[in-house]
Amino acid sequence: MNSYDSDRILESIHNSHAVVSRPDQADVIVFNTCHIRERAAEKIYSEVGMLKELKENNKDLKLIITGCVAQAEGQAMIRRQPMIDAIIGPQMYHEFPKVLSEIKYKRVIKLDFENDQKFKKFKERRIVSNISSFVTIQEGCDKFCSFCVVPFTRGAEFSRRSKDIFDEVSYLVKNGCKEIILLGQNVNAYHGLNKDNKEVNIAKLISELESIPELNRITYTTSHPRDMNDELINLHNSSIKLNSYLHLPVQSGSDSILKAMNRGYTSKDYLNIVNKVRRKCPDIALSSDFIIGFPGESRSDFKKTIELVKEVNFAQAYSFKYSSRPGTKSSRIKSDDICVEESNDRLYEIQEILNKQQRFFNNKFLSKKVEVLVKGKGKKKNQYRGTTKWMQVVNFISQDPVNSLEMVDLKKVSNNSILGEV
Ligand code: 5AD
Ligand code: SF4
Repeated sequence: MNSYDSDRILESIHNSHAVVSRPDQADVIVFNTCHIRERAAEKIYSEVGMLKELKENNKDLKLIITGCVAQAEGQAMIRRQPMIDAIIGPQMYHEFPKVLSEIKYKRVIKLDFENDQKFKKFKERRIVSNISSFVTIQEGCDKFCSFCVVPFTRGAEFSRRSKDIFDEVSYLVKNGCKEIILLGQNVNAYHGLNKDNKEVNIAKLISELESIPELNRITYTTSHPRDMNDELINLHNSSIKLNSYLHLPVQSGSDSILKAMNRGYTSKDYLNIVNKVRRKCPDIALSSDFIIGFPGESRSDFKKTIELVKEVNFAQAYSFKYSSRPGTKSSRIKSDDICVEESNDRLYEIQEILNKQQRFFNNKFLSKKVEVLVKGKGKKKNQYRGTTKWMQVVNFISQDPVNSLEMVDLKKVSNNSILGEV
């Protein structure tokens, strides 16, 4: 979503500003930041610190911090790093052009939650139309998982109007986009208003978007298991444009940890959803997020997560060590933390299994001819890269110039991708 936001920020000032390729050519440097785990948040201070000399030598250079670190830390960021000229939270990007003129005279801080205003100002016109483009349809979250900063940084759940999304997608498609990745922190909780001011869910929205002729593929991310309704599950069977891919984070396989995380489902509930989805779409690529070492996670809790992983067989997954985040409920849980070695071991163990499962999933595609959406050139001569409808990355060789969609013979599975040939 930060990538999408960065594009929109650029679009809002493209009449007055151009993108440069090096910091020393810039009048304004924007850091769009992530607060989800401590490491991402801390990185920003070292990155800003590296600009000290540049800033000292150019009094007109302005530094702006946007994103969730800006929202979470606010004024405190300036106390810690006085070189910063402006702090803008994720729901205030519509004020970006105004901030640019204000920072000439003063420090500016914008931390309100005006998501409605923001999307009203962002017109459907986009500068960057990639062959595969992100489109935010929903933002914020009301779920309050005990470990997560999102409800505090992105604010309450908000859904954009379906007509605005339709117009934005149509514009992108008119300009060459073939795949849309619908974004939201809780994307399947989408409930935007249509032109008759009636609420529509994500299944209805996807069905509407399918009517855009030149649009080939649709994906949505990230979903919450509690919002995985039957209408959406059925769409994985009936839709021809919906990718065979579902990112459905489970976080843990232990019911007591899931309860402490406030996820609102048990491991059995999750497995039931997976079974339902697979009944409708047997070849679906399932993906998930896992948090390792949540406060109080015992060895036997962890084993339950491994059992769940083995039961599901994921096509790909992301796993993270728990990171205590300021203001969250879990940061106040008093329990003996597991030692670093133990959490490293657990992370290694789960990643080894998940990697094996990814290879197993990809191996099933060997010797098949599969449609690949070509997203760019590869590193080697005559090499291109793209993705399948299962969201696998494919690197392939073609002696001839390629089209945006190519049928590729899949030949070999490597760590995170498949190698092929046209
Ligand atoms: N520590 C570790 N991982 C986290 N995530 C969210 N908050 C934390 C945290 N405090 C992970 C979850 C989520 C993904 C986007 O980031 O797995 O699904
Ligand atoms: Fe964070 Fe996702 Fe939980 Fe919302 S549902 S609080 S975004 S982990």
